[in-house]
Amino acid sequence: MKPTTAPFPATRLRRLRRTAGLRDLVQENTVTPADFIWPVFVRDGEGVKEPIPSMPGVFRLSVDLVVEAAREAHVLGIPVICLFPYTDPALKTEDCAEAWNPENLSNRATRAIKEAVPDIAVMTDVALDPYNINGHDGFVEDGYVVNDRTVEALVKQALSQAAAGADIIGPSDMMDGRIGALRNALETEQYHNVALLSYSAKYASGFYGPFRDAVGASGALKGDKKTYQMNAGNSDEAMRLIERDLQEGADMIMVKPGMPYLDICRRAKDMFGVPTFAYQVSGEYAMLMGAAERGWMDGEKIMMESLLSFKRAGCDGVLTYFAPAAARLLNG
Ligand code: PBG
Repeated sequence: MKPTTAPFPATRLRRLRRTAGLRDLVQENTVTPADFIWPVFVRDGEGVKEPIPSMPGVFRLSVDLVVEAAREAHVLGIPVICLFPYTDPALKTEDCAEAWNPENLSNRATRAIKEAVPDIAVMTDVALDPYNINGHDGFVEDGYVVNDRTVEALVKQALSQAAAGADIIGPSDMMDGRIGALRNALETEQYHNVALLSYSAKYASGFYGPFRDAVGASGALKGDKKTYQMNAGNSDEAMRLIERDLQEGADMIMVKPGMPYLDICRRAKDMFGVPTFAYQVSGEYAMLMGAAERGWMDGEKIMMESLLSFKRAGCDGVLTYFAPAAARLLNG
């Protein structure tokens, strides 16, 4: 629909920008704490809050403190907390067996949160990189990340997460056929209401650097992830991936990273009209925080402006490390 606009001076578009009240009145998009999924890093120990140098303000938390974070999220009105484990290097193996250990960090944290704060939804990550000796999201054979054998492992990983009480499972691995395999396994095992938020359009990106530090995968990673994550030059391919994942049983889809890929978010929302999320990834967070810390930009302003951009691009919500800070600001 094209708006009808009378010529100047009948139309002066500045009229509705004159006061804060008028601007609020005609604001098209808004951000609320209910739009956020908060990614948190879990580590071993008790009472441990370990800073991540490349992500100022973000910490690796022991399970007891992750539970406190979940409580805080709930009070702030953030509906989902998303867990990423920092796995003891000694537990990383070629067969990635720790990924489906019912007692692994992610599963322990999920159970602890669901027991203490049952109303918050827990999202878990499906991919082998935190457990893989070579840092890849799947098994490596002859230098190639193999697809089908990886998918079998991802199914075991996801079922252990569902058993621990995960509400939303987020496959971030980019293997082909994993959504269908996961959905099929979840249905067969009677986990009818576990939702799949597929990292459908996940690009091979330089913006993941700080995350790989946070989960301890940077040193381990051999080579890059370009044989499974997307080429930054592609947009049509993202639509094919999203359509494929929806056909295989994804409940929600994600575009990742966020800010450099807002065109993909808009296209996806227009084309499919399904619950659409963006991941404002670690490097985007680091970039904004780095500039704010140096006083080069106003941290609160760029935080809120960046979050609003996702809503304007058609996203229903955003995974963001800013979730608690932004929610505090929004709640006054
Ligand atoms: C890996 C995974 C990554 C992120 C989430 N899951 C990094 C990667 O693909 O190497 C990145 C998140 C971020 O940068 O904030 N399965």
